[in-house]
This record gives sequence, structure tokens and C-alpha cells, in this order.
Amino acid sequence: MKALVLSGGKGTRLRPLTFTCAKQLIPVANKPILGYVLDQIRETGITQVGVITAPETQGNVKDYVKDGVQWGFSVAFIPQEPLGLAHAVKTAQPFLGEDSFVMCLGDNVTGQGIKAFVEKFEKENLDALIILKEVDDPARFGIAQLDKDGNITKLVEKPKTPMGNLAIIGTYLFSNKIHQAITHIKPSWRGELEITDAVQEMVNLGFKVKAEILNTWWLDTGKKDDILSANAKILDEYVKRDTRGNVENSIIEGRVTIDNQAKVVNSTVRGPCVIGKNALVENSFIGPYTSVGDNSQVINSHLEYSVLLENVLIKDVERLEDSLIGKNAKVTKSPIARTIKLHIGDYSEVNV
Ligand code: G1P
Repeated sequence: MKALVLSGGKGTRLRPLTFTCAKQLIPVANKPILGYVLDQIRETGITQVGVITAPETQGNVKDYVKDGVQWGFSVAFIPQEPLGLAHAVKTAQPFLGEDSFVMCLGDNVTGQGIKAFVEKFEKENLDALIILKEVDDPARFGIAQLDKDGNITKLVEKPKTPMGNLAIIGTYLFSNKIHQAITHIKPSWRGELEITDAVQEMVNLGFKVKAEILNTWWLDTGKKDDILSANAKILDEYVKRDTRGNVENSIIEGRVTIDNQAKVVNSTVRGPCVIGKNALVENSFIGPYTSVGDNSQVINSHLEYSVLLENVLIKDVERLEDSLIGKNAKVTKSPIARTIKLHIGDYSEVNV
């Protein structure tokens, strides 16, 4: 069995961060989302991994995954124009050959690994196993309908009138029969070859297509608030108390990881939180669910429920919450009362 990880796309809803960073590489708890996906693939024992990349961000993704040795993988990078998930499978066909594979979206994270799904797929000798999760907003996703035995009977991509609330979460297991189904489908209204249509075609052709419902959380990190939620979930589940960094005259409460090259001075840090390498927190309060990226500085400020990427400066800011701040950005308070001075990039959002 092989794995196919989709790390392409334009990430338009996460601009301006995605002007300089692939959306799959935006960190949560100071680690790129793609890293969590690759960790879950490693747990299955799969060692041959294809990574789909987009022209704009392929350099970024290659720099992070490298030769895959960190995960024990052999990696093939497969460039693709963003023409749909089924188009990605078609593009990867020379890599996939006749093998079964698990396909994972590189910007989706779940609280559960995929090992059990791989085992079920193999044990039951399926042609497709599609992982689903109940959602409140079915019109945003691919939606599946099941019979009482868990066989998929119908799938619709972003239905205007949803026939249920079971969303396709971005983890799919396929036999090589998927390639035959893809040859039968046409691009959708959004001009993409939809994997949802290809799975429907597998159902129509009488192949064994089953579903499994995820019984933990799932986040599709397409927007700022999803990144903050994913950060909170991951910090909640994975962060351990480890305050090896340089801590002076400070209160560190709960599960806080401070990198051994970080410095916390005259401050309070309340977990769950991570403070990255060479970061500095001085005369500040860092509240729960915050990740401070490598080389970032928080000085005379109050920060909560936020993600700072690398080399950010937050200085003299009374209270900053629910914020996602990109690399090398600076947020400081103007010395002139009630004046707001901005120098921000295209597609930035400021709420004062
Ligand atoms: C894609 C799939 C959709 C699925 C979603 C999960 O949507 O087409 O069926 O529910 O991923 O994240 P897209 O992100 O391309 O809009």
C-alpha cells in the first residue's frame, strides 16, 4: 500500500500567509500541519509516499519534507495544476501503479490516526473506504449517504440541499479501481475533477465502497479560525510540561513547553502553550492556547488564543486575542494615543 498526500492548492482563504507559505505548512503548536498528516501515515507502516505539489509552493513543501527520511519514507514529489482531487490521483497514476493507496489532504487534521482504517480496508478487501464526520454546515463539503451496513449509496459535492450531515473529511482509501472510475467523470461546475464524483462512479460500477465515521475531532484548516481551533486542539492533546528554557522571575502554569533556547522573563505563561526556539517573552502574559514561533518576541504585552509564526514582534500591546500573525510581522502600540498606524500586506485583516 502507498500513500498520496495532497499538498497543492492556492490557499486563497489564508492569504496573506499563503503568499509566502504553502497552506499545509502553516504551523499549529509550532509544527506544520503537514507534519501531523505524515506522522499519521508513518503509524500505518506505509513507506512509499507521493506528495502532490502546486507550482507556487513546491519549493516550500520540498524543503520541509526533504527526502522523507525523518519519517522513514521514500518520497516522490508530483507537481500538479490545481484541477481537483481526482485530477491529482490521475496525475499520480504513474507513481501509484496498480497499488492500493490512502489519500490524505495535507491541510486536514484529526484527533485519530489512520492505522485502523488501513486495517479495515485490507481486511474487508474493499475498493474504497471513505472517512466521514457529522458536520453542522454540510453545504461546505462533500456529503455521503449510507445504507444500514455502512455501504455508500450516494455522494454529492457541496450540495445546495444536503441529504444528510455526513461530510467527507479528506482521508480516502482506494484500490486501483479508482483509476477506471476517474476515466468516466467530467469536470464539475467549478472546473475540477471531483473525487466525490469518482467515488460515486465506483458505487455505480458496483465496486465495494464503504464508509467509516470518525469518532473524534476533525479540522479542515482552510481559514484563520480553523488554524486557531486546530492549534487549540493539538495543544490540548499533545503539549507536555517541559520548561527547559531560560525562565527568570516568571510564573509558568500548567502544560507549557518552553524550548531550551527560549527565554521567559518577568512574565506569566498559562498553558497549554508552546514557546519556540530563541523566542523571548518579557514583562508579558501569555494565555492558554497560544503558540509563539521560533525567534518571536512578546514584550510588555498580553497574548491569548493566538498563533505567532516565526520572527514576530509583539510589543506594548495591551491585549491581543484570536490572532494569527505571519512570519516577520510586527504588532506594536503607537505612542500617540488613539492613533492606529498600519503597514500591512494584501488580503490582511485588522480588527481594532
Ligand atoms: C474537498 C472535497 C470535499 C471534502 C473536503 C474536505 O473540498 O472536494 O468533498 O469534504 O475537501 O476538506 P475542497 O477543499 O476542495 O473544497
